[in-house]
Amino acid sequence: MDLVLTSTRALLAAVLAGLGGGAMAAGNPATGRDVFAEHCAECHSAKDGKHKKGPSLFATLGRPAASVPAFANYSAALKASGKTWTPEALDAYIANPKAAVPGGTMKYDGLADAQARADLIAYLATLK
Ligand code: HEC
Repeated sequence: MDLVLTSTRALLAAVLAGLGGGAMAAGNPATGRDVFAEHCAECHSAKDGKHKKGPSLFATLGRPAASVPAFANYSAALKASGKTWTPEALDAYIANPKAAVPGGTMKYDGLADAQARADLIAYLATLK
């Protein structure tokens, strides 16, 4: 558990620092909460163990894709993707889910605004 918390904190720090020498913008978690409410909350809960059309996004940063045990509706494509939800992997998936996971079943066209994605990822990093 300590290990998970430590790595989540490290990821959050990396997100806030703007990972990869500025390749990703630094995110504002308070703004990200609004982005989540507008774009994601229809299908995702931020609460641990609460699933809608999509799995709970509690403690997503740092864990393997399709690994919420109680969520039964993962696509074969996401399960086989081999992804781990690093900030970069999340950024690519949120920007264009169908390109990042071909054959995946998340019916979302993608969030084009890089700053909004960075804010959203900073918010997701606080869910732990
Ligand atoms: C119309 C419903 C819908 C919307 C809107 C939606 N999602 Fe999803 N999401 C899903 C479904 C369904 C899955 C499972 C996809 C699969 O198995 O291929 C999923 C999967 C995910 C996963 C992978 C979770 C895991 O356990 O591996 C992440 C991360 C995610 N969504 C983030 C988001 C974010 C962030 C937003 C808002 C920008 C969003 N989603 C908007 C339905 C949605």
